[in-house]
Amino acid sequence: MGIEEQLTTVLAKAVIEADKAESVKELETIRVSYLGKKGEITSVLKGVKDVAPEQRPVIGKKANEVRDELTTLLSHKKERLEKEALERQLEKETIDVTLPGKQVSKGQTHVLTQIMEEIEDLFLGMGYQIIEGNEVESDHYNFERVNLPQNHPARDMQDTFYITPDVLLRTHTSPIQARTLESHDFSKGPLKMISPGKVYRRDTDDATHSHQFHQIEGMVIAENITMADLKGTLELLAKKMFGEDREIRLRPSYFPFTEPSVEVDVSCFKCGGTGCNVCKGTGWIEILGAGMTHPNVLEMSGVDSTKYSGFAFGLGPDRIAMLKYGVDDIRNFYLNDQRFLKQFKRKG
Ligand code: PHE
Repeated sequence: MGIEEQLTTVLAKAVIEADKAESVKELETIRVSYLGKKGEITSVLKGVKDVAPEQRPVIGKKANEVRDELTTLLSHKKERLEKEALERQLEKETIDVTLPGKQVSKGQTHVLTQIMEEIEDLFLGMGYQIIEGNEVESDHYNFERVNLPQNHPARDMQDTFYITPDVLLRTHTSPIQARTLESHDFSKGPLKMISPGKVYRRDTDDATHSHQFHQIEGMVIAENITMADLKGTLELLAKKMFGEDREIRLRPSYFPFTEPSVEVDVSCFKCGGTGCNVCKGTGWIEILGAGMTHPNVLEMSGVDSTKYSGFAFGLGPDRIAMLKYGVDDIRNFYLNDQRFLKQFKRKG
């Protein structure tokens, strides 16, 4: 067989093989087996040196044509295979945007935060400032400056976690009274503030006690503030938290930082005052402690108690939430169980 015929035959064989190839890798093997150093076409071309010199240009031309044709054919086929592979991959990876998405569960404001924000709103509307205190507090501010000196018996009721003998986790939000009193500039107007936050006591946790809970402190100091102002303010608070037709009742009590001191009861929101299980048959529910600020507290903070007077109150959002929603165990607020918390979805 002449070289020209050989070339034609080899080309025809290569074309058939290339046509059958299904991957770029197969195609490359075919290319090497025909056009590579030891490839079939290459070895045919090696025979050119044995043909008569006058025939060489003709055969050389033919050989170049065959090589070019095969090269072009292979590269076109390669392009096509690559395109097909890409299309297959794209198809496999298509995202169906019409499929339903994964449900991301959304939380909601914690019920205690809701209560605190409601109370903040009420007092902001009456021109009070909201002041944040420190949870880690000194014995000085937590006790001494609110009229509870060392060895005062009332300290027993508020045992806490000590960091050093002088530094502790605050047992109530009352230290903020002294902190704001000493920094308030009375020439600029009265002091009206509330201070919500966490407090700590060394209690054994049970259904109604938690070693960490919340309080909201309130204080108003100015000239001519009387107990009538305290009563009016608390009445408004009770109505806001428990409904418009609530009434309040003040009972004498004792706190070292107020004189006189009172416990404040609200008429039962469930039975309206006739007696039920929520108010334990009394018609009244105790909601907070309050009183007229003790002159010692004012004087220790450098405020003239002959000129200024006022009131303070402290309430527990945990207890308010328990009463309002009939929650019988305070620990529910701190377990982070969504099944419990989801029930208090704020509307709007
Ligand atoms: N600090 C008191 C407590 O924790 C509450 C209180 C605050 C009472 C302000 C009167 C005035 O029990």
